[in-house]
Amino acid sequence: MTTLTIAQLLKETKQESVEIKGWVRTFRAKRFIALNDGSTLNNIQCVVDFENTDEDTLKRITTGAAVHIKGELVESQGKGQSVEIVVSSIEILGDSDPETYPIQPKKHSFEFLRENAHLRTRTNTFSAVMRLRSALSFAVHKYFNDNGFYHMHTPIITGSDAEGAGEMFRVSTLDQKKPPLTEGGAIDHTKNFFGKDTNLTVSGQLEAETYAMSLGKVYTFGPTFRAENSNTSRHLSEFWMIEPEVAFMDLAGNMDLAEDFMKSVIAYVLEHNAEDLAFLDQRLRDEEKTKPQAERSELSLIEKLKFVTDNNFKRVSYTEAIDILRNSKPNKKKKFKYIINEWGADLQSEHERFLVEKHFKCPVILFDYPANIKAFYMRLNEDGKTVRAMDVLFPGIGEMAGGSQREERLDILKQKMAVLDISEEELWWYLDLRKYGTAVHSGFGLGFERLVMFATGMGNIRDVIPYPRTPQNAEF
Ligand code: 4AD
Ligand code: MG
Repeated sequence: MTTLTIAQLLKETKQESVEIKGWVRTFRAKRFIALNDGSTLNNIQCVVDFENTDEDTLKRITTGAAVHIKGELVESQGKGQSVEIVVSSIEILGDSDPETYPIQPKKHSFEFLRENAHLRTRTNTFSAVMRLRSALSFAVHKYFNDNGFYHMHTPIITGSDAEGAGEMFRVSTLDQKKPPLTEGGAIDHTKNFFGKDTNLTVSGQLEAETYAMSLGKVYTFGPTFRAENSNTSRHLSEFWMIEPEVAFMDLAGNMDLAEDFMKSVIAYVLEHNAEDLAFLDQRLRDEEKTKPQAERSELSLIEKLKFVTDNNFKRVSYTEAIDILRNSKPNKKKKFKYIINEWGADLQSEHERFLVEKHFKCPVILFDYPANIKAFYMRLNEDGKTVRAMDVLFPGIGEMAGGSQREERLDILKQKMAVLDISEEELWWYLDLRKYGTAVHSGFGLGFERLVMFATGMGNIRDVIPYPRTPQNAEF
């Protein structure tokens, strides 16, 4: 007799003598244990023969306790489950304390569960979300592997700042109270661990470019860190980013790749995680009911996911988008916080959400942005003022991914770096790619947690990563 997971058991019908281990969700009438082991959303009902079980054991079967059960798998007498276990023996592996155990069998707020993030995956919602997160991660690797990409581990500690935003976490082993100083009084980073100033990476892109220019098609999928002080439901200080980079691919190819990739990973979970999705779909319906009619979503979670897999993303140039926004109702009525007056304005999330949620009502890929609101490495267009950038915008999320065709011309890249005061010495290796066999190449970065938010219908990014890191918070 081997120990099966509940997911396996519920598929079995022939097994008679079974053995399982899990955590008690509820214990009713000294008789019915709802047991869960994390393998599925479903609990298995275990029926205890209380007349033949000692009082002490019965008392220790409490919510949260870990137990080892042996018994017979039989067709269930009650409703709500097809099979149940008639318990022949029960061993308490780990007691719980019904007085203090935080995860009581009742509805808890997400705020409360965030404070108890070490136990929140013992709830249906969070176990479903984290199983989906795991499936999406697998689907990401599967997609790239099936399509001839190599997985590359880009460094986490870096000496360069890919996005030029300067909002990085410093990595240092210098004495914080008495750092060594140069004669000029600045911190002497030659004495630091790496002999230079280093930070946690904000993106693996620049290193991924080097591998694309030799291995052809690569991707990285790793943690990235941003020290920006944005306390929103869509920003984390530590998040996971998926960054494909492909040689000989232009911006149109990049858009095709992004769209095909997103459709594929969403289709994967629709096929493989139907049970968890159905649960989260219902959760979202219940949540929507508490909102005013005008704010309710027209589509359910599963409908939204199918909408993405079944419809083309709309491709719109920045210039077209500005025209739409300038003539939009919220702009004319000054409902936007940032009014769009002229070409060149940076788009805020309110504008992005207007475009995808109100105007196009589907995922949108905006491209050809003004050069001066985008990063230095994006390829300049013939007009001399726009770059081959793209942002993929999703309903309910806003920016899901951002990327570009990369500037492959050495002289133009150098000019750009000079204007932005980016050191050629520091990025000598990046410039080398343009000296030796340069070619058109492109890629994008997709925030994995934003994908998980979309796929699970969760409204706060803190609820789709096990232990969120945000300004003023690094508990656990
Ligand atoms: O738009 P970003 O900053 O682009 C880059 O870093 C490029 N180097 C990517 C590339 O071309 N290879 O970030 C990419 C994506 C965003 O679209 C967003 O989904 C996510 O990363 N993202 C965040 N997710 C959570 N919290 C944050 N603070 C995020 N910042 C960006
Ligand atoms: Mg971006």
